[in-house]
Amino acid sequence: MTTMLSVSNLSKVYEGGFTALKAVDLDIRRGEIFALLGPNGAGKTTLISIVCGLVNASTGTVKVGGHDIVTDYRAARSLIGLVPQELTTEAFESVFSAVSFTRGLFGKPADPAYIEKVLRSLSLWDKRNHKIMTLSGGMKRRLLIAKALSHEPRVLFLDEPTAGVDVELRRDMWNLVRGLREDGVTVILTTHYIEEAEEMADRIGVITHGEIILVEDKATLMHKLGKKQLTVHLHEPIDTVPEALAAYALERTDDGHALTYTYDAEREHPGIADLLADLNAAGVGFKDVNTTQSSLEDIFVSLVKQ
Ligand SMILES: Nc1ncnc2c1ncn2[C@@H]1O[C@H](COP(=O)(O)OP(=O)(O)OP(=O)(O)O)[C@@H](O)[C@H]1O
Ligand SMILES: [Mg+2]
Repeated sequence: MTTMLSVSNLSKVYEGGFTALKAVDLDIRRGEIFALLGPNGAGKTTLISIVCGLVNASTGTVKVGGHDIVTDYRAARSLIGLVPQELTTEAFESVFSAVSFTRGLFGKPADPAYIEKVLRSLSLWDKRNHKIMTLSGGMKRRLLIAKALSHEPRVLFLDEPTAGVDVELRRDMWNLVRGLREDGVTVILTTHYIEEAEEMADRIGVITHGEIILVEDKATLMHKLGKKQLTVHLHEPIDTVPEALAAYALERTDDGHALTYTYDAEREHPGIADLLADLNAAGVGFKDVNTTQSSLEDIFVSLVKQ
């Protein structure tokens, strides 16, 4: 497995003395989709901005594809595409020429066929000759993505790409990102839509107060921290849980109408089949059952609270 982005001991103290990043270490693998999650002000944009050369680090080093972002910045930057959090675009330029121009800025020869492919994939082809000021907010965001892809980057940063974007476009963007990954592009995204990370990411990093508190494969994270619950709705309310069921550590609702069994999503011992059989044996009749599983959102909230 090759490392595409390597961040070590990265700190940022802004003028005025505020510490936005505290000795961050992070390795991103080539071709993965990495979701960086964290509350407002956690330092996500600061981290991305340093990697992209928009903000200077206070300490530490960053390498992109093996190139140091300070001593070898030209090589490093040519590998990177950035879709910034803030909508910033030219007003009077046309869509097509803005995207072509951005490609030129990275020293790539003109390639109208490639630009057309990018614009089509973002449903912007019909708007190619329109002035940017006439685009809607969601279209402007798509334009920012087109610009970030204009020079065929190997690492793409998406800083809140789907803020203010409708459901359909969000789906389109996810497909686009998956397509990029198939082409071997490394994608690092920040998002406040946790279901997006749950759906898209291979790995998840959580940052709060300028510190990365966790980096984990998404599947592992959801296995490790995810809990499943089975709720059994009873025919008759009960006052106490029968002794025979003590091993399940069941929780009784206040009205006694339901019992909840919390079990590990990974290990299912004792199994829910055992529980249902033991309920029958104990003479506790039930009319319905349902299960719930903690989402990445539940996991995230509990992590950040800690
Ligand atoms: N230019 C600056 N000067 C001083 N402080 C700054 C500057 N830019 C950001 N900060 C501070 O650094 C902290 C991290 O900001 P950053 O934009 O990296 O957060 P974020 O994780 O991207 O948050 P959000 O989810 O709201 O986008 C914040 O407290 C912010 O106020
Ligand atoms: Mg941000």
